Amino acid sequence: MTFKQEPAVQELKSIYDVYRIREDFPILKIKVRKKTLCYLDNAATTQKPQQVLDTLNKYYTSMNSNIHRGVHYLSGVATDAFEEARIKVKNFINAKSEKEIIFTRGTTESINLVAHSFGRKNIKEGDEIIISNMEHHSNIVPWQLLCNEKKAKLKIIPIDDNGEIIFDDFLKLISNKTKLISVVYVSNSLGTINPVKQIIEAAHKNNIPVLLDAAQSVNHLPVDVQKLDCDFLAFSGHKLYGPTGIGILYGKENILESMPPFMGGGDMISKVTFEETTFNELPFKFEAGTSNIAGAIGLGSAIDYVASIGIDKIAVHEGALLDYATQRLKEVPGLAILGNAKHKSAVISFIFDNIHPHDIGTFLDYEGIAVRTGHHCTQPIMQRYNIPATSRASFGLYNTLEEVDVLVDALKKVIEVF
Ligand code: ALA
Repeated sequence: MTFKQEPAVQELKSIYDVYRIREDFPILKIKVRKKTLCYLDNAATTQKPQQVLDTLNKYYTSMNSNIHRGVHYLSGVATDAFEEARIKVKNFINAKSEKEIIFTRGTTESINLVAHSFGRKNIKEGDEIIISNMEHHSNIVPWQLLCNEKKAKLKIIPIDDNGEIIFDDFLKLISNKTKLISVVYVSNSLGTINPVKQIIEAAHKNNIPVLLDAAQSVNHLPVDVQKLDCDFLAFSGHKLYGPTGIGILYGKENILESMPPFMGGGDMISKVTFEETTFNELPFKFEAGTSNIAGAIGLGSAIDYVASIGIDKIAVHEGALLDYATQRLKEVPGLAILGNAKHKSAVISFIFDNIHPHDIGTFLDYEGIAVRTGHHCTQPIMQRYNIPATSRASFGLYNTLEEVDVLVDALKKVIEVF
């Protein structure tokens, strides 16, 4: 195997043996149109290691039962495994208490929970909520719905041509009407790593709570909620090598205590009469109905897997992939990268003047390469740059430099064809 950039190869080899790690992911062996799958759509979802698949299988074959409800053996085993997963999440993001960890269906539900519960209680007519121009729709629409209901206003932090938040403009948006700031930690479209610590510090000087959409960060960077001092943090299991349909809302305990329930139903109650209901303690107050028990336990297993490699090492590995891919993509005539922030995660959106991203995606698919094309659920970013869509290659812990070469070679062929 020869690579175009030997220093990047050396750097990668010293981090971990990526070819050994790839053995953990059975799906990476499949053929797509007779080509070995080159999976570069990790920002959409990540593949699952055998360890997570085994955990799910073990749950359904030897533990399946409802939790928190039964006195029987299986219910106890399932409850213990579910609560153990909560502790793994707590340790993974360094929360103070497992009471601060709420299982949801994913980032979207976590943000909606805050909008419905915290938002409806605290946002009044004339108040303002600040988000940025680079939010995913899941961190725009819940706030728009809330603002429409409450006659409040959504304020947008602008971004520059490189895809970075314009910090001075952000500071100017803060006023005594600002009741919440909700920003993405790592942009799913541009890869920008936002200066969230500084955003939180500026917000807290004005007693404004901050929600971080961490869907694209927990899988790429070490995230410590106590160091960040964020008030809420949301992420999904499936982008962290875990199952779909499970996610996390972290919230500071005192804030969660002050919030009313989101959904009503079983498990979130303490006592129900027809006249009145009292609610369960944290975190169960926010977990109405039967949770995705297997998903939570699977997420715990994914966290164990990521921890066994080390999130710091994953960050270095992906950083080297990003550098290598950014360099090599310069060889492709007419290709422009959208999003050139100084601090970037391994997500590369690119466009060509005369070729529609969907044509690129279709062509790459014939080569066995999976990328995402479209607006990536971030239409306001497309509006900001006046484009309809991008093609996006997004990397994960198992991607290799060889796969970058496969992508670059295929893109060169695209240019010949179009
Ligand atoms: N939010 C996911 C993505 O960026 C689905 O593709």
